[in-house]
Amino acid sequence: MLDNLGDFKRDYYCGELTENNIGDEVRLLGWVESVRDHGGVIFISLRDREGVIQLVADPSKSPKEVYEKAKRVRTEYVIGARGRVQRRPAGTENPKLETGTIEVALDELRILNTCDVLPFQIEDDINVSEEVRLRYRYLDIRRKTMYQKLLLRHEVYQATREYLAGNGFLEVETPMLTKSTPEGARDFLVPARLERGKFYALPQSPQLFKQILMVGAIERYFQIVKCFRDEDLRADRQPEFTQIDFEMSFVDEEDVMSISEGLIHYIFKKALGIELKLPFRRMTYQEAMERYGTDKPDVRYGLELKDLTGLSKTVDFKVFRETAEKGGLVKGLNIKGGAQFSRKEIDDLTEYAKKFGAKGMAWIKVQEGGELQSPITKFFTQEQLSELTEKMEAKEGDLLVFIADKPETTHRVLGFLRKHVAEKLNIIPEGRWDFLWITDFPLVEWDEEEQRLVALHHPFTSPKEEDLDRLDEAIADKKVALGFKSRAYDLVLNGEEIGGGSIRIHRSDIQKKVFELLGIPDEEAEEKFGFLMNALKYGAPPHGGLAFGLDRILALMTDSDSIREVIAFPKTQKGICPLTNAPDFVKPEQLEELGIEVEIPEEETEK
Ligand code: AMO
Ligand code: AMP
Repeated sequence: MLDNLGDFKRDYYCGELTENNIGDEVRLLGWVESVRDHGGVIFISLRDREGVIQLVADPSKSPKEVYEKAKRVRTEYVIGARGRVQRRPAGTENPKLETGTIEVALDELRILNTCDVLPFQIEDDINVSEEVRLRYRYLDIRRKTMYQKLLLRHEVYQATREYLAGNGFLEVETPMLTKSTPEGARDFLVPARLERGKFYALPQSPQLFKQILMVGAIERYFQIVKCFRDEDLRADRQPEFTQIDFEMSFVDEEDVMSISEGLIHYIFKKALGIELKLPFRRMTYQEAMERYGTDKPDVRYGLELKDLTGLSKTVDFKVFRETAEKGGLVKGLNIKGGAQFSRKEIDDLTEYAKKFGAKGMAWIKVQEGGELQSPITKFFTQEQLSELTEKMEAKEGDLLVFIADKPETTHRVLGFLRKHVAEKLNIIPEGRWDFLWITDFPLVEWDEEEQRLVALHHPFTSPKEEDLDRLDEAIADKKVALGFKSRAYDLVLNGEEIGGGSIRIHRSDIQKKVFELLGIPDEEAEEKFGFLMNALKYGAPPHGGLAFGLDRILALMTDSDSIREVIAFPKTQKGICPLTNAPDFVKPEQLEELGIEVEIPEEETEK
């Protein structure tokens, strides 16, 4: 038999009670964390959002029906409790509990709901699969760690609104049912019932709308906004994720970076009480690639790449020499203390390198007394070896590893190896917030698959002002374009890209030329982005902005392994929501209404 809530109201959250409440009569509501029977006295731990308090039903003191009811209570039942706050008898305090010196002697108990057998206990350290946690997300969220993450997320929303609104930014919503705006991923499509055969796309970002708001003289816009990208999922990627998106008119890079820094500073201060040092460091794309092999380097530790391409041209080792002669790069990492690695560990590193496209991984161990052990030293003269060890800053006990390949491959492989080795050796300092701006990105890169130039950021990013007059030249000669830099900037935190933006193209003639440079035919540009091109013709101000990946920032702030930990209802790595079982089949009538026929491959119907 269950009780009704009726007019029962809570006076306090459990966690709010202190010794100052001793003697007060209080009404509490919450979930039963545990029930213990100590020689007839029943102790109930009552939990709500804010904390836990102990309730006591004593057969000699509590009303009889309250005591009888207390005996029926089980874990995670929902109850209302009325009673008097009292000091716990000496020796029975619980120092682990914030309310551990007090308890509530029960005068009234309402059992509002029961609870089935739990799939896992509601406690911080649980050992269940993520799939089960997500299927029972409501129980998972009841755990303190999850609640604290959602609370922090809430605080970050509030801080963002305070800071941006305080700096003259207007919060404007942009549509979710829209036209494809490319950010380089696949679109999620939504069939249009009223326009058969046509589809809306869910936005990959509000990029074009925010630019159009600038043409609309909004001057400063922001939005905490869902974005949708149908890409392969990883720990730091979800098919729907949240951006803090903003855009400003009449600005240059410095203005956007300064607002971005101010916002991040404010968020860290408000939500974590951390005072970050401003301004953040900066590094050009080129320097980042050369020193770290990636455009999002983790600069909390050294382990920088060393260039041996020059030396390689002179050596007998064919792999190195030919790579260097053909315009490739030969670079190495000095793994301090790595000479202790076993043959198996070195083989594992080689396999790891191959996963990222390496053809092999050459290595040299610097043994005791400086003796070199390696399968490749025989191809080097004594002088070449001295030059190599000097360039590598090699010392006794080091392991030197080398990759020779096309520049992109050498950098990519060593970039990943560097991170992998740093994790393996456990040399990444904890508790540091190393923010780093990456600037001066190339405007375009060559896409082998598509056999055309593609924008590194997106096609609306402006080239540097000094190159604007050279666009025709670049259209005629792609090599010229490959030398152009863009007005884009990324913000990296501890090796993760947490935000990116740019100064945009605000002139339609230039936008047209950039589309041409990217090999987007006029008709396609018109069909896809005609509305933007048109808007740019009607007094578009110079403008620029940035978008932060909110989930990534939160994952870093909470030291979570994956952004799924900071999202209330995330999808699994396979893009599935175990709670609702989405995506799912729909009724044939629904498809018919939309004029859609679905073909399911045989192997999938057999599942
Ligand atoms: P960009 O594509 O770089 O830029 O996205 C901005 C930031 O969003 C985060 N992010 C993601 N987070 C989780 N899951 C994903 N699948 C995902 N994809 C991106 C990253 C990234 O830095 N319109 C431009 C911004 C601009 O130019 O103003 C844009 O969307 O942290
Ligand atoms: P091989 O002559 O192919 O037996 O290679 C000799 C050593 O060079 C082995 O340790 C290989 O892993 C390594 N190696 C092969 N190709 C490359 C490459 N592209 N870059 C760096 N090392 C390589």
